[in-house]
Amino acid sequence: MVKDKILVIGASGQIGVELTMALRKIYGNANVIASDLREQNPLLEGTGPYVSLDVMNKEMLHVQVIRQNVTQIYLLAAILSATGEKNPNLAWNLNMQGLLNVLDIAREEKLHKVYWPSSIAVFGPTSPKINCPQQTIIEPITVYGISKYAGEFWCNYFNQRFGVDVRSLRYPGLISYKSAPGGGTTDYAIEIYQQALDEKKYECFLNEDTYLPMMYMPDAIRATIELMEAPAEKISVRTSYNISAMSFSPKEIAGSIKQHIPEFKISYKPDYRQTIANSWPQSIDDVVAQKDWNWKPEYDLNKMTADMIENLK
Ligand code: NAD
Ligand code: SER
Repeated sequence: MVKDKILVIGASGQIGVELTMALRKIYGNANVIASDLREQNPLLEGTGPYVSLDVMNKEMLHVQVIRQNVTQIYLLAAILSATGEKNPNLAWNLNMQGLLNVLDIAREEKLHKVYWPSSIAVFGPTSPKINCPQQTIIEPITVYGISKYAGEFWCNYFNQRFGVDVRSLRYPGLISYKSAPGGGTTDYAIEIYQQALDEKKYECFLNEDTYLPMMYMPDAIRATIELMEAPAEKISVRTSYNISAMSFSPKEIAGSIKQHIPEFKISYKPDYRQTIANSWPQSIDDVVAQKDWNWKPEYDLNKMTADMIENLK
């Protein structure tokens, strides 16, 4: 059996740190190369190889792939929804060109597999709000959502036309405590825990009744690895899979935190991110992922809150 050598691009980010650590446990530290434009995250130091890399520099990326005998790429470098609205050109360029560079190299070097995440941000105001299905009306209103939707079809195209085994998940908002988030609309659900512990209060940039699809990071990491390890014939979706774990509002997450910190108080001051949140579904139907590769989440809101508070303490 050929041993896989994995390159994680964007390894210093919110998902990258935890995904790199999980992949190193499975494939061995030396076989998972972390890479990023910024410096290595301290949590990854001493756990395996790191290279400084700009995904926009295709030539250098190609050289690294050949030099390090890379057989799989996990592409996590992107600009998220809220930051993307501040600089739409930058978001479009990175999110699109970064993906095209990786897909081209995967085709040329016949890489075994590529992973690239999409997002619930592909959905727009005309998509169903409740249990939004895998296939439905998709009219995103953010540059981030547009780039993710276009990216899904590039993945499908490279799979159908060139046989590249590229796989993808539409992550919901991800909540974690190890590495800071990169500028998403769902980031309030991360900040709220630290501020509840430190200050016993939090001013939320979304309204109290804004329901969004969310997932705890351990579930997201497990979903990613389960998708990537599923036999190719089980993968019926080559754009990107809906996956779901929970849906809650700021008021509900505050209620869950109050069970541990009774004096915690939340206030609301919605900003431009409210418009983005309003355009997304409240919950996601992931029946296709359940059927194809047995997807099942483990964490609900209260289980996640207990774990977040325990770890952040
Ligand atoms: P993040 O912003 O925390 O991390 C992205 C990393 O990419 C950063 O470390 C950044 O330095 C790096 N990067 C930026 N430009 C680069 C470049 N040119 N070359 C190399 N590296 C570069 O983002 P994240 O939350 O970890 O998200 C990872 C992926 O998952 C993205 O595609 C994102 O759209 C997707 N996603 C995330 C969430 C979420 O809630 N975090 C939800 C849905 C989808
Ligand atoms: N959590 C991400 C964001 O808010 C969803 O892709 O941008």
